[in-house]
Amino acid sequence: QANDASVKKEPSVNKTSKLPGCIIVGARKCGTRALIEFLALHPDVAAARKEIHFFSNDTNYAKGLKWYRSLMPRSKPGQLTMEKTPRYFVSPAAPTRIHRMNSSVRIVIALRHPVTRLVSDYTQLCYNNVARGLAPPGNFTQLVLDERTGAVNSDYTPVLVSTYDLHVARWLAVFPRRQIHFVDGDRLITQPLQESRRLEAFLGLPPRFTEDSFYFNASRGFYCMKRIVTVKGSGERFAHTEKCLGAGKGRKHQPIEQSVLKKLNDYFQHHNEILFKMIGQRFDWR
Ligand code: A3P
Repeated sequence: QANDASVKKEPSVNKTSKLPGCIIVGARKCGTRALIEFLALHPDVAAARKEIHFFSNDTNYAKGLKWYRSLMPRSKPGQLTMEKTPRYFVSPAAPTRIHRMNSSVRIVIALRHPVTRLVSDYTQLCYNNVARGLAPPGNFTQLVLDERTGAVNSDYTPVLVSTYDLHVARWLAVFPRRQIHFVDGDRLITQPLQESRRLEAFLGLPPRFTEDSFYFNASRGFYCMKRIVTVKGSGERFAHTEKCLGAGKGRKHQPIEQSVLKKLNDYFQHHNEILFKMIGQRFDWR
């Protein structure tokens, strides 16, 4: 493992902050953090690590593109600037605002099995509430099912976010299909190299992801990243730095009752089919 102090710092000459040429717009809990961190391994990518919430937040949007650009990482000529804000996926204003910034910007949408995403979202809410000293959000079944009718509560926000067709329709009303890339968020977990290469190809980046870019970390139960760095003062000597995502990614989900799972799967099936037709791509969400 390379010691940080021994890693050669690149001179910052010719580096400027540019508006993004690609935006990962969501969806929340579908591996958006993993994606931006994986892309950041690529030498031709400059990735903003913080979520910017520019196009989805009226106060931020009013600050203008100059403000937005100032939050982008400094990049070398030829590098592709990227940011990710999962909130954009569900924001009615975001597609048009992004299009107004740059009509040829590339859009990336990661999607995961809608029920897994929903449970992940609920799990995150439980953690957030504990961290803020608030009461738990309530019992999962009571939140996702209508108490009176027993039907799926389609107004519950985590259910709404997983109703992908509703949101994707808004993106497709503004951007041509060829400008949007869909990442299989379930496969991103098990085959990060394959999904990263697909994205690399979509973005027209030179192929840089290899078997050496990722390794399976058994104690985390997830793939982590390897970056090759030059060791200072040693000519052509290289070393690896290894990095896993933080503990907030890859949490254990509580078991969900079979009957509730069935109701949720039945509910989403119809929406999934509309989505598959709309985008001309299927996901294995049985
Ligand atoms: P869980 O914590 O529910 O497992 P996001 O970054 O959009 O919030 O997505 C979080 C999800 O990314 C995690 O959900 C996890 O399953 C998934 N993920 C994908 N690749 C991962 C990786 N290499 N390490 C950790 N989590 C990863």
